[in-house]
Amino acid sequence: MVIAQINTSEINFREAINELREEKNALILSHNYQIPEIQDLADVVGDSLNLSLQALKSDKDLIVFCGVNFMAETASILAPNKKVVIPDLKAGCSLADTINVQQLREWKDKHPDTVVISYINTSAAIKAESDYCCTSSNAVKVVEEIPLNKEILFLPDLFLGAYIENMTGRKMHIWPGECHVHAKLTANEINTMKNDLPDADFLVHPECGCVSNIMYELSEGNIKNDNTKILSTDGMIKYANQSNAKEFVVATETGILHQLQKQNPEKKFHPVKDDAVCEYMKMITLEKLYRSINEEIYEVKVPEEIAKRAIKPITRMINIV
Ligand code: 13P
Ligand code: SF4
Repeated sequence: MVIAQINTSEINFREAINELREEKNALILSHNYQIPEIQDLADVVGDSLNLSLQALKSDKDLIVFCGVNFMAETASILAPNKKVVIPDLKAGCSLADTINVQQLREWKDKHPDTVVISYINTSAAIKAESDYCCTSSNAVKVVEEIPLNKEILFLPDLFLGAYIENMTGRKMHIWPGECHVHAKLTANEINTMKNDLPDADFLVHPECGCVSNIMYELSEGNIKNDNTKILSTDGMIKYANQSNAKEFVVATETGILHQLQKQNPEKKFHPVKDDAVCEYMKMITLEKLYRSINEEIYEVKVPEEIAKRAIKPITRMINIV
């Protein structure tokens, strides 16, 4: 069989993707950290929770997930009758990789009769071993659902775990995982920005290395809690849209600046660190998106036995908003 060679350099990817989207009845989802060209072409741009919900309620046949693997897996579990594809299978997550199933089982054996809460940044196999899942936007509410007499194993992010403990006043067993991008956004960086831009609003993702320090400073009254907000990525966008501030300092992956700036052209957004860049999130290009939608690759299908168990904690997560 002769396979026709496509000369991709001659393709106008934007136009071709738009045509294919119609032809294939496809929905293109983009996380807030994707490159601007992908965000601008997507049907929906959002955070992990929002994108999972879009996959669930969509009536499209093909879901093209421009994000990282665990997000596409979650979409596939929620929408088992749809074809979910990711344009690059190598788009992983350093945080999700900090725990595997064997490690979780050993941890559970050491702490029997506990409730396991997994952050959405975990593999489907880890979710299948969990009682609840959560995202950065509902983690506190999920923990508040757990009866007080139950011990909690929270995984895998230690900074998010510390934030939840502080917000709920509840002690948990916390897995010592971290995201390599957010961990390097430390208190020093934030404090320098506070000196440089004292009137700006500060938007901080709860995975950041600075979160514990910010909460301490807030509780001591050293920083104002009316201009320092700990939020998920969609939470940051909603907050910036309604804030009267003219300048914002953003402590998360820099991809979100495109969406913030696009929705608020008259406001100014400063990243805490220009190099807070998640290389996994940047793997998807227009060319890869074109191939993905055209060839319907790479399909993300979670084994049925895992999906059957993972759907319960995921459903609990989406019902707690
Ligand atoms: P959000 O759920 O806030 O989109 O965050 C996901 C993520 O991967 C953060 O690094
Ligand atoms: Fe994972 Fe960190 Fe990238 Fe988010 S920014 S996808 S947590 S590696």
